[in-house]
Amino acid sequence: MKHLIDPTDLRKEEIDQIIVLAEDIIAHRERYQGSMAHKKLATLFYEPSTRTRLSFTAAMMELGGQVLGFSNPQNSSAAKGETVQDTVRVLGCFADIIAMRHPIEGAPLVASEVSRVPIINAGDGSHSHPTQTLTDLLTIKRELGRIDDITIGFCGDLRFGRTVHSLIKALSRYHGIKVVLIAPDELRLPDYIKLDVCEKMGVEYRETDNLDEAIPELDVLYMTRVQKERFLDEDEFDRVKDSFVLDARRMALAKPKMAVLHPLPRVNEILTEVDDDPRAAYFRQVENGKFVRMSLIVSLMEWRNDPEHVMPEHEAPILNPALHCSNPKCICNNEKHQPRFRLAENGITRCWYCDSKVR
Ligand code: NCD
Repeated sequence: MKHLIDPTDLRKEEIDQIIVLAEDIIAHRERYQGSMAHKKLATLFYEPSTRTRLSFTAAMMELGGQVLGFSNPQNSSAAKGETVQDTVRVLGCFADIIAMRHPIEGAPLVASEVSRVPIINAGDGSHSHPTQTLTDLLTIKRELGRIDDITIGFCGDLRFGRTVHSLIKALSRYHGIKVVLIAPDELRLPDYIKLDVCEKMGVEYRETDNLDEAIPELDVLYMTRVQKERFLDEDEFDRVKDSFVLDARRMALAKPKMAVLHPLPRVNEILTEVDDDPRAAYFRQVENGKFVRMSLIVSLMEWRNDPEHVMPEHEAPILNPALHCSNPKCICNNEKHQPRFRLAENGITRCWYCDSKVR
């Protein structure tokens, strides 16, 4: 069985297959209308969402399936203290596939360890968001006609922006990718993505805090919202919240074919004056999100009993009671899960669930 917890749970060929299928769904929607008849998707959303949850819902409905679940954990047994694993065991009795969003990092991973149906991570804390990545890849392909050989600028909150982390991981497996990381000091990309992904995979990257200087070379500009809900210190948020604003003046510095992506919601990092620019792809990106989720649901259901499509093998985890995960928002610091670790690049030991350093 295949779950999608991290973008690298899918081989590159599987990602390409999902994108090709999404394009076929776009071209021949009627052919897929009944493909999930009598199947149920559960959406377990422990954190706010508009696009992700409703695009999953719309995707399953368009495939002829049905949807159940909750969008507020206060209305679920989580409010009574039920663990994520127990909730997922229960939902596996009702649904054929589960999409889960959780503020605690690693929650979908522990869910997948006990689930009898495929689990899709719809965002875990500031860690990963692999279905947004599929959306972004499909959007890049449709806007530029290719995913290889692009220079992509990530701008804004690269520290807490889970969509950025996941997209860089996925792009690291394509050819000729150059990454420009545009962020203030406080919001720079976590080390584990720079070391374990960019350096390990040979992705060319550079860091800057100057959007004007970076924009002329970009094929894709990926704007992000500063993730207010992830800051532990409100003053720090206030200092960085308006770091970068994309406006018509800055768009004039960009290539005539650059695509502007944003996972949305935007707050004020893209002025509405940019919306009518043909390069503004963020609302087309939303629609791509529905098609790619249709494709993902169909694929995971098809692959469920196929030995060709299983989870990647990992080295055995390090179990050492002297080590602790440094992240207060990690599942191992919130529910009773045995702390597990892995040895990453440069000999650094990282948490198995959330990639944070040990203490
Ligand atoms: C993003 C998310 O939830 O991480 N939104 C989304 O899923 N489209 C980005 C964000 O919240 O800023």
